[in-house]
Amino acid sequence: MKSYFGHISNAPSKRVLVLDFGSQYTQLIARRIRELGVFSEIVRHDQTREDYEKHHPIGLILSGGPSSVYEENAPKLHPSVLEWDIPMLGICYGLQVLAYQTGGSVVKGSLHEYGRAIATQIQSSPLLNGIDSAFEVWMSHGDQVVQLPAGYTCVATSPSTKNCVIANETLKRYGVQFHPEVTHTPQGKVILSNFLFQICNAVKNWSTETFIETALLNIQEFTQGRKVLLALSGGVDSSVLAALLGKAIGDRLIPIFVDNGLLRKNEAIQVVNTFQSIGIHVIPVNAQQQFLSALQNVEDPEEKRKIIGKTFIEVFTKEAQKFDDIGYFAQGTLYPDVIESSPVRGPSATIKSHHNVGGLPEELPFPLLEPLRELFKDEVRAVGKMLRLPDEIVMRHPFPGPGLAVRHLGAITPQGLEILRDSDDIFISELRKENLYSKVSQAFTVLLPVKSVGVQGDFRTYERTVVIRAVNTDDFMTADFTRFDWNFLAKVSNRITNEVRGVNRVVYDITSKPPATVEWE
Ligand code: XMP
Repeated sequence: MKSYFGHISNAPSKRVLVLDFGSQYTQLIARRIRELGVFSEIVRHDQTREDYEKHHPIGLILSGGPSSVYEENAPKLHPSVLEWDIPMLGICYGLQVLAYQTGGSVVKGSLHEYGRAIATQIQSSPLLNGIDSAFEVWMSHGDQVVQLPAGYTCVATSPSTKNCVIANETLKRYGVQFHPEVTHTPQGKVILSNFLFQICNAVKNWSTETFIETALLNIQEFTQGRKVLLALSGGVDSSVLAALLGKAIGDRLIPIFVDNGLLRKNEAIQVVNTFQSIGIHVIPVNAQQQFLSALQNVEDPEEKRKIIGKTFIEVFTKEAQKFDDIGYFAQGTLYPDVIESSPVRGPSATIKSHHNVGGLPEELPFPLLEPLRELFKDEVRAVGKMLRLPDEIVMRHPFPGPGLAVRHLGAITPQGLEILRDSDDIFISELRKENLYSKVSQAFTVLLPVKSVGVQGDFRTYERTVVIRAVNTDDFMTADFTRFDWNFLAKVSNRITNEVRGVNRVVYDITSKPPATVEWE
């Protein structure tokens, strides 16, 4: 039985809904609204007013999207939403769909407008309060609104887009052709803030403190004195969850840390010690042999992932039996995981099968407790900081559930894992030394199943190749490889070939995602 804590919300009831038309920026819009102190949630674009009303919205934001309104099957608002007396802000496609469905006309622009543009105010509007009369915006569109629907006026214009900002002050409906949510629109946050506080009359109801307060009460009430089993991985999400649960239910938290033999250098001991220092007693379980023998001779990446997932569940089920009265299994699922694996997103969005949610078997021995389901990663980090978790945990790069197995190409061997641990340790410590660790989103090494010829001292060698991988990204859905200084890469390469036995060649992965993924398997 799958049952989620999710239906007990840690969020305030009044919220702004972001209707998703498939934009790559939809999550960013929701994050910006929350950064302004108002809770926001992403929902499908095609629900009825009645569906949306269940969320108690104070305003709707219509996201951008890749479609053209006049195309067949273009995503549209449900007609009942257009009858609704609620403030709306359409962004890019959101503006076009709002105009189109209320009688305006939209055409393919003669000029596509991508990148920076200057918008000029031609009329005042509460949406643009405090904004310069000419302001920089970020555009990304081909179509544009050429004829406004009745009741709308043009508030700002740009050289390529006549109706750059439009407003129907009576109905409190607004549209902006540019993207106020991106940092390239320097005053974008003021525009969003105006929409929230001057137009929707929002009150600040969302902060790290209020989230923690509500979550603590909810967890106490929900668990009803029962114990909660937590699979602690040492990553940011499960660590923050451990800290939150530890504070909420103390000794009723059973945080189990499974050493699957696929961890980084000294990781098991570090995790146990860190939590000890904040009063959480982690139970280490050494299951190295169980995992490694299940993975013996397995080369296929998906097969590896499946075996690891299955073995994890076996280990947990067995460990759980050592405790009586376990009521729940806690998991650090975050909001992006929930969005990506539910039908919330619009039709054009890429759906990625997500590791936390998708990786669990249907038959879990306990109902799930997922108190972080409503949070974005940066919000989880803020919660971790407020709960006094050390920076080395809160600001840590992500580490995949299957661990080093997906960085060890081909069949896994103890020697291969040793090479990965040592090379990863060198790379990460050099990054820290040069103050680069926090400037990179994720960095690690990969071991290739090939050997090549080299020369070390006066001797011919025939050894393995290690890949250095580092990426920068906002959300890991797309990523760019990190542009390091050559001297830095040379230093890491020298250290690895000199200090790690069995390696005579180091290469740097200069592929972005897409077409590659971040991990190699
Ligand atoms: P990919 O390789 O899909 O990785 O581009 C994107 C991000 O997800 C992490 N990742 C995982 N995390 N379980 C996890 O918890 C997994 O099975 C898994 N696979 C990849 C990866 O490290 C990167 O941060």
